[in-house]
Amino acid sequence: MDLHIGRRLTSAEISSLLSEARSRTLLLMSALSDEDLRLQHDKLMSPIVWDLGHIGHFEEVWLVENLANGSTGSEGLRGIYNPFENPRAQRDELPLPSRSECHRYLEAVRGRVLERLASTDLGADDPMLCDSFVYRMVLQHEYQHNETMLQTVQLKHGEAYAAPGRIEPPVVDDEAPAPGNMVRFPGGVVVHGTDDRSVAYDNERPGHEVTLAPFWIDVHPATNGEYLDFLEDDGYERRELWSDVGWAWKDEANLIAPAYWLRQGDGWHERRMDRTASLQSERPVCHICYWEAEAYAAWAGKRLPTEPEWEAAASWDPKTGAKRLYPWGDEPPSGTRANLDVMLFQATVVGTFGQGVSPIGCWGMMGDVWEWTSTDFRAYPGYETFPYPEYSEVFFGNEYKVLRGGAWATRFGAIRNTFRNWDYPIRRQIFSGVRCARDD
Ligand code: AVJ
Ligand code: FE
Repeated sequence: MDLHIGRRLTSAEISSLLSEARSRTLLLMSALSDEDLRLQHDKLMSPIVWDLGHIGHFEEVWLVENLANGSTGSEGLRGIYNPFENPRAQRDELPLPSRSECHRYLEAVRGRVLERLASTDLGADDPMLCDSFVYRMVLQHEYQHNETMLQTVQLKHGEAYAAPGRIEPPVVDDEAPAPGNMVRFPGGVVVHGTDDRSVAYDNERPGHEVTLAPFWIDVHPATNGEYLDFLEDDGYERRELWSDVGWAWKDEANLIAPAYWLRQGDGWHERRMDRTASLQSERPVCHICYWEAEAYAAWAGKRLPTEPEWEAAASWDPKTGAKRLYPWGDEPPSGTRANLDVMLFQATVVGTFGQGVSPIGCWGMMGDVWEWTSTDFRAYPGYETFPYPEYSEVFFGNEYKVLRGGAWATRFGAIRNTFRNWDYPIRRQIFSGVRCARDD
């Protein structure tokens, strides 16, 4: 599955990418009962059937309505699937469709999309169609909602989710450095962000120069074993490791360990979807909030990387001054380079993907867990909203922190070195971990 970034897609490529996206969505949802689809499992998340219908509605607005009337706006986002009119916490009160009604709706939309595709001039002089941007936008939207749905599945109680089509991870690379090791980035002027208009969201643009001081960054994301050391060293009780806001939140929310860690008998266990097992020390720690990430880093004598540091460590080759699309180069992601694309259904042992190492020697920057950075989600200098303000612009400010790199639950087509995710610093239903940095 390759999005062929940077060029126009043929209509055959577009229809096969759309159909691949839909088969994956339906595969992931096939393991849920009607009741699990309909229930609101947590106030933070939508009923899963809402995500499903919203995927279809978004596709209808951008690939049928807007392409028909030449609009590049979001006016069409209305009704029960408008995320702004219907905040997540209230989505269980909406007149939601049944599973089969929802499937019929998705199919009807897809039929109209393919009809319209047949009569669309893919070479038209239109920024939405240029290099097939609008199709990649709709594809990425479906991919992103797959991850959202998986967060809900991980949250839910009741019937176990038998992960459909689960595959086993590749074996660990013998050459991998041990957890805790750091590599140095020499500093200098780097390009942050991108000018790409074929796949990148508006918030990734424009590419602009930033000057970085030299810094060190962890070769791997922090592991469960390292995080357990922090916890057992009274990390959650030592005031000096936490920021004021972080400490207050830890008390209020009564945080004592990452989400889904369970104390059983004499040891810690973790629940990952339908499986509960003893904590595996070599896997990246997952489901920690920003405040926990920050306290962990302080305990380790380190700090969180800034967003430009993270991106440089993933993408920049200081020897050649060239920037890569992915840590390993410009070739599209695959199962030998990173734990992405869902089917492992969990983060895997660090040091597995020797073919995914970045120019300066960071492992696992794509996939496994999203990594918190210390940077607020803000517009880059020269930012222009495109095509609609509700994707990025309305979230800019100091309320959200940026996360980078994607997780096991992120589809191949929904991640790249410049991709920016964001969430509130208190959130941990997301597949979030941490990779620490320090000054030179
Ligand atoms: C980029 C993951 C923060 O889920 O709010 C989905 C993605 N935007 N539909 C979100 C998104 C619109 C977005 N994140
Ligand atoms: Fe959405």
